[in-house]
Amino acid sequence: MPRFEKLTIFAPAKVNLCLAVKNRREDGFHDLESLFLALNFGDLLHFKPRDAVSDEISMGNCPVPMLDNIIYKAITLFREKTGFSQKFNVIVEKRVPIGGGLGGGSSNAAAALLALNKIWGIQGETLNHQLLLEMAAALGSDVPFFIHETPAAMVSGRGEIIEAVDMPPMFLVLVNPGFPSDTARAFRLLDEKRELGIIKEEFTHRTTGSCGLCGSWQNFVNDFMSIFPEEEQRIYNEIISALQSQGARYANLSGSGATCFGVFEEEEQARKAAEALRGKWDFVEYCTQNEFD
Ligand code: C5P
Repeated sequence: MPRFEKLTIFAPAKVNLCLAVKNRREDGFHDLESLFLALNFGDLLHFKPRDAVSDEISMGNCPVPMLDNIIYKAITLFREKTGFSQKFNVIVEKRVPIGGGLGGGSSNAAAALLALNKIWGIQGETLNHQLLLEMAAALGSDVPFFIHETPAAMVSGRGEIIEAVDMPPMFLVLVNPGFPSDTARAFRLLDEKRELGIIKEEFTHRTTGSCGLCGSWQNFVNDFMSIFPEEEQRIYNEIISALQSQGARYANLSGSGATCFGVFEEEEQARKAAEALRGKWDFVEYCTQNEFD
């Protein structure tokens, strides 16, 4: 096999500009309707060949445990499907907050599948897009979106139905309060509140083409916004208000938290907002949508 020295791949983060959660399905998952936007902010993954019996994944010079690591799961799945036996040293430049609702882990998994497919391609073999999507769906609900490498998409089903959409240029500010949010817990809280009748599904935006693709930010929702205990809710509301005070046209929670985002129409305004909010919260980042090559 021709040798490769190193492959570096960008794993973009995402925000859910809009996220509508439907009812719980028999398999325990929920059908979603969500407008995903890939960001030019994310992690970098470096793949180097490793002449050893096992892989090694490290972050900031420290090896990370492999067992529950989604990158390792992606590599293992790729090997099972292809028989590709090369072992890897994977160095992760992690910038996306973990448990942040920005798809960091999912994007890492998709990047690993795409990277291995490129490396395997040096031998002249590749998996087709459909197979990659199926593997992605097995790794996590948000992973297929990142296989598409599209700046924006309407995502539905469990996350496997993806329809690319055009979005105008947007300037975003991400704010993470410094604590993670567990996705499974958030879905559980949402189910509990719905069962108790405390919150209802908002049928209106689901019957009108969902997520406000008719063009108005007013239709955009995140169904997780009302399910958190008081203190978490207070913090999210505080961040969203701060983003709005800085001139954000729209601000909401991304995914099941804990990162909030504001959308600005002008780059300068977004950069100034990020500057003003830095210091108040652990993580503040200016970014725009990702343009894939
Ligand atoms: O697929 P993923 O690993 O991201 O899902 C984590 C958890 O979030 C699942 O175990 C499930 O409880 C919940 N989930 C869901 N419906 C989805 C996506 C995730 O209920 N569409």
